[in-house]
Amino acid sequence: MENLDVILTNGRVVTEKGIENCDIGIFEGKICALGQLNSNAKIIEDATDLIILPGGIDAHVHIDQPSGPDVEMADNFQSATKSAAAGGSTTVLPFAMQEKGQSLRECVKNYHTKAKDNLFVDASFHLIISDPSAQVLGQELPALARDGYTSFKVFMTYDDLVLNDEELLKVFEVAKKEKTLVMVHAEGYDAIRYLTKKLEDEGKLAPYYHGLSRPQIVEREATHRAISHAQIVDIPIVIVHVSGNEALSQIKWAKENGIKVFSETCPQYICLTEDDMKGLNMDFEGAKYVCSPPPRDRESQEAIWEGIIDGTFDIFSSDHCPFKFKDKKGKDRPGARTSFKWVPNGIPGVETRLPILFSEGVSKNRISIERFVELTSTNPAKMYGLYPQKGSIKIGSDADLTIWDPNKVKKIKQADLHHGSDYTPYENLEIKGWPIQTWLRGQKIYEHNKFITQKNLGRYVSRDFCLL
Ligand code: URP
Ligand code: ZN
Ligand code: ZN
Repeated sequence: MENLDVILTNGRVVTEKGIENCDIGIFEGKICALGQLNSNAKIIEDATDLIILPGGIDAHVHIDQPSGPDVEMADNFQSATKSAAAGGSTTVLPFAMQEKGQSLRECVKNYHTKAKDNLFVDASFHLIISDPSAQVLGQELPALARDGYTSFKVFMTYDDLVLNDEELLKVFEVAKKEKTLVMVHAEGYDAIRYLTKKLEDEGKLAPYYHGLSRPQIVEREATHRAISHAQIVDIPIVIVHVSGNEALSQIKWAKENGIKVFSETCPQYICLTEDDMKGLNMDFEGAKYVCSPPPRDRESQEAIWEGIIDGTFDIFSSDHCPFKFKDKKGKDRPGARTSFKWVPNGIPGVETRLPILFSEGVSKNRISIERFVELTSTNPAKMYGLYPQKGSIKIGSDADLTIWDPNKVKKIKQADLHHGSDYTPYENLEIKGWPIQTWLRGQKIYEHNKFITQKNLGRYVSRDFCLL
């Protein structure tokens, strides 16, 4: 073949299946040749001593979502997707969150307006169903599923989002009819409210107590309930952001018993612990780490690693949900210093997700590089209907690629990141192995801390159904 647009040469190319020394030929944004290529190309990029992976797919990010009165997320679509690109991801799956009483169509339209011309990488929306009215369940959700919105998230907690058991079952039933995939935030609402009140009555108000208000048992109970409901309706579900052994044991039990349950974990559950929420001396610094489910203990981290290594986890996402720390519209919103229950839940992580798993997993020999690719790109693409357009290095796939230097050692520093938040929970964590170039559909968009392209190169991607 002659006159390709780009050839990436001399790199070690990794897919979920193996590693190969080969060239990658790119034409009109797609991978068109793999092997020893003797062709001409407008651009030849030498990747000697480097590794080429399929671009990361971050299947769980929150961008520009309303988060309560006077609270603002720290990222818009431009800053979040810039941050994603710098961290080696070429596709993100943010949420279009329905507000109570809102039409789902209207909600989706609003998120398209926010994202339009503001994407550095490709994106596709999951829906969040907070108000499963007859109109939503009977018309809007089925119609949107057929238009390529093939996954949605439901919550078993949070005042503005929680669905009761009957609502969950009704939503699951629509998912069954439409073959869509349901992501479940599994934490039990009533138990959290009970524990929160008890802690407040005892004067336990610092951010640290956020963790005690939603212990692992609360997550385990809800995980079991969600799995049981899915079994009743007979649908697959995804238990997202699993934090420790209690919920994981329910997922293992389900998988061993032939119940189709997928599971996701995130960097915070291998790198942070409940002690981080103590801050310097049980002070407000702990708010930087408040997210739900909260980080647990060292034993839980080990259990999460076991699930990553043994295949129990299907995907590894960031659950990027950024707020500024020093901001009255962020973590320090009115009331947050009077009780943990007012601290906005969520931490930034879209840019640090891949370097953390690469360094802690691949560089420390806990997992193979093929498993890294499976968890961070191939499986998210298969689960959420993007495969084989995305998620692998294959002929015909989008040329979404990330070039890694496996030997580059550098600490994570807020000053180097591109997100809108004013801190990272992973400050000073030493990372071995960094993405140094990101290519989106055949165009280099990022190299060594510099953006090469304009903001609007990313596109919205319509999705197929779950392929796993
Ligand atoms: O604390 C978190 N994880 N906030 C984001 C919303 C969610 O539940 O995923
Ligand atoms: Zn959640
Ligand atoms: Zn989330």
